[in-house]
Amino acid sequence: MSDLGHSKHNKSSRKELKELKKIFDNNKFYLNKSTIKQAGYGVFSNKNFKAKSRLDEYIGEIIDDEEGAKRNDKSYFFRVFHKDGSSHIIDALPHEHSNIMKFVNGVKTPQQRKRQNCEAYQRNDKIYYRALRDINVGDELLVDYGPTYWLKPEELEKFYSKM
Ligand SMILES: C[S@@+](CC[C@H](N)C(=O)[O-])C[C@H]1O[C@@H](n2cnc3c(N)ncnc32)[C@H](O)[C@@H]1O
Repeated sequence: MSDLGHSKHNKSSRKELKELKKIFDNNKFYLNKSTIKQAGYGVFSNKNFKAKSRLDEYIGEIIDDEEGAKRNDKSYFFRVFHKDGSSHIIDALPHEHSNIMKFVNGVKTPQQRKRQNCEAYQRNDKIYYRALRDINVGDELLVDYGPTYWLKPEELEKFYSKM
């Protein structure tokens, strides 16, 4: 995930959830209120997946840094690196460009880290999620957004100054 910030996604209503489910639920995954307090919606499995199996692609609008800088909500950004060192951003915020993987929550606390069951990886210019261990029907998908996602702007500066 991008280090470009995160915002509050903890407001959910039954009506909104119903509408979102119509758009995003599929045969593999469904949306529901997250098992993590204050985290908003989360993604739950409709199937059993073996460890290492590919779950789905992280889909969104493809934008460059200039466009990314203009967008207020950067919490659905994912940076994709190219072989020549350049990169682009996938912004999954707009529903029309995304799929259910935009709702996968990230582990934040040591307790949550123990529950991480999937990871993101890049293949060519695409981002996919895969199972880190067996995932069973009803499990919530939890990924690690990376070392910078939860940092405040001042902590980010410190993080990069050490590199
Ligand atoms: C990519 S969105 C995930 C989907 C989001 N839960 C929703 O309902 O739209 C990332 C945002 O979800 C929330 N979130 C994800 N993991 C969380 C966690 N462990 N604790 C609290 N909030 C979390 C944060 O607001 C974060 O910026």
